[in-house]
Amino acid sequence: MDGNATPLPEAAGPAPTADLNGRAMPLVGFGTHPMRGDQATEAVLTALSVGYRLVDTATRYRNEAAVGAALAATEVPRADVFVTTKMPPDQVGRERLTLERSLAALGCGYVDLWLIHWPPGGYPGVASWREFLRAREEGLVRAVGVSNYPVELIDALHAETGVYPAVNQVQWGPGDYDPTFAEAMRRRGVLLSAHSPLRSTDLDHPVLMEIARRNKRSVRDVVLAWNLHHRVAVTVKSARRERMEQNLAAAGLALTATDVEAVDGLSAAAGAR
Ligand SMILES: NC(=O)c1ccc[n+]([C@@H]2O[C@H](COP(=O)([O-])OP(=O)(O)OC[C@H]3O[C@@H](n4cnc5c(N)ncnc54)[C@H](OP(=O)(O)O)[C@@H]3O)[C@@H](O)[C@H]2O)c1
Repeated sequence: MDGNATPLPEAAGPAPTADLNGRAMPLVGFGTHPMRGDQATEAVLTALSVGYRLVDTATRYRNEAAVGAALAATEVPRADVFVTTKMPPDQVGRERLTLERSLAALGCGYVDLWLIHWPPGGYPGVASWREFLRAREEGLVRAVGVSNYPVELIDALHAETGVYPAVNQVQWGPGDYDPTFAEAMRRRGVLLSAHSPLRSTDLDHPVLMEIARRNKRSVRDVVLAWNLHHRVAVTVKSARRERMEQNLAAAGLALTATDVEAVDGLSAAAGAR
């Protein structure tokens, strides 16, 4: 092979993971919103068959039963799949019931990660967080985290319980990049997880297009690889097999430090630093 040739996706090596309470969390996850019913079941089955090992759902997506049908039908053992679900904040006070319903719909005895979907009423949700920690102690969830939380609300959870979320899932693409926020998460041991990494991005941006062209890859690949370079988990959705495969293979694209810096520089927050 020509030394300058772009490596084939098959040459990407093992899928990247992060250590989450001793359990490996895949850094490329399959998002299931807004799919429901048979479409969601088929998509999750396809995603598992092409190699995804993290499935992201939520009570609010109303597709947990459809995801559960795929988990029941797949040949991939449950222990090899990392299942994330989320409690909507309107379920504050009904945490255990919500979790039991999620587990029943998913057909699982536990989930790997349970998130507070967003801050309840803009507050940290300390009472919910205590329930989350109890569920973790009881083994119903392997890890607990939050979604769409600013630093100060994460600190409030820690101040009251001594426990930081394992994960904070937020919208995170080049336009959202905020090195101060990323560093705050890292210092607290909170894994940053990107939702909507593609949908939130200006895929026609000339800087991204130039990097993509030079690497002979798509702009979407560049966006996903940029997140992975920063050790940010990505949750990405497609209903189409070939796109699922492309997104998974983006992990095989190694960007240079210069290219990563160029993408970093696209956000207003990075520029303001
Ligand atoms: N925690 C939260 O508050 C929150 C909020 C939003 C989303 N999420 C999670 O994050 C997941 C992903 O976010 P998202 O669905 O908003 O955005 P996304 O994954 O960034 O983008 C999805 C869109 O991109 C298209 N797409 C994906 N791969 C493609 C490819 N290789 N080529 C061309 N088009 C491609 C998909 O279309 P096709 O399906 O037609 O391919 C879909 O329209 C969701 O499914 C959900 O699990 C969480």
